[in-house]
Amino acid sequence: MNVEALNRGSVGSTSGVQNGKGKPSKTLLFARNFLQHPRMLGSVIPSSSFLVDQALKEVRWETARVIVEYGPGVGTFTTEILNRMRPDAVLIVFEMNPNFVKYLQSSVTDPRLRVVQGSAGEVETVLRTLGCKEVDYVISGIPFSTMPEAVRDDILSATFSVLKPGGLFVVYQFSGKVLPYLERIFGQVQKEFELLNIFPARLFFCMRKQKQGS
Ligand SMILES: C[S@@+](CC[C@H](N)C(=O)[O-])C[C@H]1O[C@@H](n2cnc3c(N)ncnc32)[C@H](O)[C@@H]1O
Repeated sequence: MNVEALNRGSVGSTSGVQNGKGKPSKTLLFARNFLQHPRMLGSVIPSSSFLVDQALKEVRWETARVIVEYGPGVGTFTTEILNRMRPDAVLIVFEMNPNFVKYLQSSVTDPRLRVVQGSAGEVETVLRTLGCKEVDYVISGIPFSTMPEAVRDDILSATFSVLKPGGLFVVYQFSGKVLPYLERIFGQVQKEFELLNIFPARLFFCMRKQKQGS
């Protein structure tokens, strides 16, 4: 984990593709990083607005206080989450790719955002460092089907631990391979599909069950 990334210090501009205004072009930055890390990115371009809307439709914005995102990339979900969430809510994003971390830090100035350069598997440690006890929603775009099994299992069980009872884990993927592992940890999983994306996407909505009697 890059702890400095937790404190939104000033960063230089992202090296590489720039648009006419001197900012990196999101799509080109994403595509170029896909060529370097195809398994880590899992997609050649960012998600469509249709996929974003479908993945976020179950979020109760009026009550959500802590939201976590895994794999923000160039911020396609991040900016939409920030647009919709409460003024006093916080969004903590975990991104392994340093180019995307720099891009997010320089292009999104919202004080409710914390950008962590590190793996989603570090979620428990990071939340403890930030003093966050429970999370309402985790939104994940990381490619579970191409990562080592042990990493996948660590991320899934850490996610279950940080979610509050009634909290929701939303996963979007091109593959359904992760489904049995989600079902093993969360029990029942709501399954959906979004065709309007570069590749049709699977969506999995996994709720951490409320404690009995609550
Ligand atoms: C398919 S892209 C999704 C990007 C963006 N959320 C979107 O929907 O357009 C997957 C992203 O997950 C990041 N990633 C992959 N493994 C990760 C991990 N273990 N922890 C955090 N980020 C990860 C990649 O660097 C990449 O930015």
